[in-house]
Amino acid sequence: MDTNKPIPFLLFIIFFINHLFKPISSSEICSNSFCRRTEPIIRFPFRLQDHQPNSCGYPGFDLFCDAFNQTLIDLPNSGEFAVQSIDYAAQNIWLNDPDNCLPKRLLNLNLSGSPFDGFFFQDFTLFNCTFDYRKYRFDPIACLSGENFTVFASSSERAVRFLASRCSLVATVAVPVQWSFFQPVLTSDLSGDIRLAWGSPSCRRCESRGGQCGFRSVNSTVIECRNVRNRLPRTARYAIIVGAGLPALLCLVGFFCLICSRIINRHRRRHHPIMEFSVVVAPQPTTTTISGLDGPTIESYPKTILGESRRLPKPDDNVCSICLSEYLPKETLRSIPECQHCFHAECIDEWLRLNGSCPVCRNSPKNSPLTHT
Ligand SMILES: *[C@@H]1O[C@H](CO)[C@@H](O)[C@H](O)[C@H]1NC(C)=O
Ligand SMILES: *[C@@H]1O[C@H](CO)[C@@H](O)[C@H](O)[C@H]1NC(C)=O
Ligand SMILES: *[C@@H]1O[C@H](CO)[C@@H](O)[C@H](O)[C@H]1NC(C)=O
Ligand SMILES: *[C@@H]1O[C@H](CO)[C@@H](O)[C@H](O)[C@H]1NC(C)=O
Ligand SMILES: *[C@@H]1O[C@H](CO)[C@@H](O)[C@H](O)[C@H]1NC(C)=O
Repeated sequence: MDTNKPIPFLLFIIFFINHLFKPISSSEICSNSFCRRTEPIIRFPFRLQDHQPNSCGYPGFDLFCDAFNQTLIDLPNSGEFAVQSIDYAAQNIWLNDPDNCLPKRLLNLNLSGSPFDGFFFQDFTLFNCTFDYRKYRFDPIACLSGENFTVFASSSERAVRFLASRCSLVATVAVPVQWSFFQPVLTSDLSGDIRLAWGSPSCRRCESRGGQCGFRSVNSTVIECRNVRNRLPRTARYAIIVGAGLPALLCLVGFFCLICSRIINRHRRRHHPIMEFSVVVAPQPTTTTISGLDGPTIESYPKTILGESRRLPKPDDNVCSICLSEYLPKETLRSIPECQHCFHAECIDEWLRLNGSCPVCRNSPKNSPLTHT
């Protein structure tokens, strides 16, 4: 018992000295803010003008509220955008046009001079057409179209070739899309939020530990990580360390073992992909003709490398239906443009060489309507 006593006493002394010499932390004057309850929560590195003091935000991250209590950001060379959401841990921000005509804004988007850059870019070509588009299942950009002309945007090479001979070219723009493999089949009205990322200030490590970044003190340029959990009373903190620390450590060890065994299993499965295919293909009668795709066609399908946050177009679809393993960060995925199903690139490439249709919906890329026009 006696040997345990000096430790809490020492902790107390350390906390006491720490508090005595600490300058006024910006956390004491910067509380989270927002324009309206349904709008994003604003905190460091962002700052809401007229709600939070200057020292609460990083330069270039100032936001403000408009007359409708929408959250806006003014990008130096592109003007005002409505902030749709902010992911502080992934350091991503989603923007749209406050006047609901994003494609018009994309024509003049210039991110230089702002702390943001696109996460994924995808080139879209805009055309101004006079023909009746409905029979081609094209999706027009309503806010740019008029009574006698219609504007389309496409990222599909075949659709661009089709439109180029029938319409006048407006421009080709690099759109900061949310998913590079979420490729519109033929046309898009480009109304979906654009996704931008920031690199500096980097607070990923702090956020992943449940903390929040902020300037150390009012006039300081030093950024510190404040752990929100540290704001509990000292006795509660001590109890948590003893009460939860040990079980958590055990859980962590267990979790680590689980992950290890999964990775080993996955490796085994990945190293025998041909065997799995032969199981699938074998029961088919040998009389069916082999109708695989060639290498250049497969290569032309959109590919993406999964980021750390592993955001997928359909969040519930996070398993490759060919090898049945979960998508992990840094893995390369490929999607089939016609139906937008995605798979591990190495799995789907193998499949498409043998079999020209999507393994999920049996949609054959070769039967799409444009090849006949
Ligand atoms: C905006 O918010 C303020 C106060 O939070 C409120 O008084 C005002 O009615 C809101 N305006 C709109 C258009 O919602
Ligand atoms: C973006 O804006 C900067 C600064 O005004 C300018 O130098 C640059 O040429 C612009 N880029 C494009 C592609 O217009
Ligand atoms: C499309 O063409 C029409 C004339 O045919 C023109 O009035 C209109 O401004 C053009 N729109 C765009 C976005 O270029
Ligand atoms: C559209 O075309 C019709 C028939 O050619 C014409 O009467 C009408 O004035 C045109 N509308 C516009 C806005 O140019
Ligand atoms: C911060 O700096 C300004 C001027 O640079 C000064 O007036 C102010 O007193 C300083 N605030 C603190 C808390 O040091």
